[in-house]
Amino acid sequence: MNKIRGSSELVLVMTEGMGPATVGETLRVTAFFFRQMNVASSRLEAEVLLAHVMGITRTGLLTRLDEPVPAEVLARITDLVARRVAGWPLQYLTEKQEFWGLDFYVNPAVLIPRPETEVLVAETLSILRRSSLTLATPLPREEKVDRTVWLADVGTGSGAVAVALAKEMTNVCVVATDLAPQALNIARRNALAHAVDENIVFVLGDLLEPVINRGLRLQAVVANPPYIPSAEMPGLQREVQFEPWTALDGGDDGLSVYRRLVPQAARVLVPGGHLVLEIDYRQGTPATMLLEESGFTGIRVVKDFQGHDRVVTGKLPKSG
Ligand SMILES: C[S@@+](CC[C@H](N)C(=O)[O-])C[C@H]1O[C@@H](n2cnc3c(N)ncnc32)[C@H](O)[C@@H]1O
Repeated sequence: MNKIRGSSELVLVMTEGMGPATVGETLRVTAFFFRQMNVASSRLEAEVLLAHVMGITRTGLLTRLDEPVPAEVLARITDLVARRVAGWPLQYLTEKQEFWGLDFYVNPAVLIPRPETEVLVAETLSILRRSSLTLATPLPREEKVDRTVWLADVGTGSGAVAVALAKEMTNVCVVATDLAPQALNIARRNALAHAVDENIVFVLGDLLEPVINRGLRLQAVVANPPYIPSAEMPGLQREVQFEPWTALDGGDDGLSVYRRLVPQAARVLVPGGHLVLEIDYRQGTPATMLLEESGFTGIRVVKDFQGHDRVVTGKLPKSG
């Protein structure tokens, strides 16, 4: 196959010849085009996109390689292929990202949840399961104690963290905040899709201000805030440039949001309450210092599966 130079040429290649393109041919041409345009995992992405447009699974696709592709599917896939080579992340084209084993709806109004953020969820669950605050040892059924665990997911975006936590815990109430109304709509949609909408309150507002204004006290504050230093934003990978800057830009040194969030967390947490924050791999030491300055103890930095510092966690003293 000769080099295909642009997506309009791709349409011609897909539609030329004797009759309608088959699924197999469409995959081959798309994967070839992706390779030419340096799209990683060219064959896999071609399969994901075509399966998405046809509304079937990738496995289903592979059983239909000889079937013709309807003209409207061809038009749609051509449009998506053009956008993918222009840099659009695959997840915005399929409007889907898996996180914590769950499918989340995503669009350019929200950050695409990252696998590293599963460390934040895992660490939060592990802390809460160990914590006496959440009464991990079941009380007798007849005992009327409010055992609801109250926590906040600050900067909820697609709702990935809040929904994952709510799926894993019974009697949890998550206050999920974000500055972006569109993000909250998407988070609500994801909570509904995973049947945890009754456990999550979505509120528009700056960091923990909605919690402070309502006078709520929480057992845990969890957040994956924007933490990329502003000067690094223009040099981010092309796909990341399509994500909301407000979800990524952490100010001059990447720590601007933490400087406001950590003292706020110290105000809303009950004695013995936990703060669990995702961090950039270079922020373990400065984030630890910020937690110390706000009175947190037992501070730990947790690594991700690549061995990078990824989460910092601390606890308020039990009393005083
Ligand atoms: C890195 S994204 C995290 C999204 C999601 N929690 C996740 O882990 O995939 C940060 C989120 O914080 C929100 N955000 C940024 N500044 C905020 C602020 N001052 N108050 C509330 N939310 C904020 C952004 O809109 C964005 O949704």
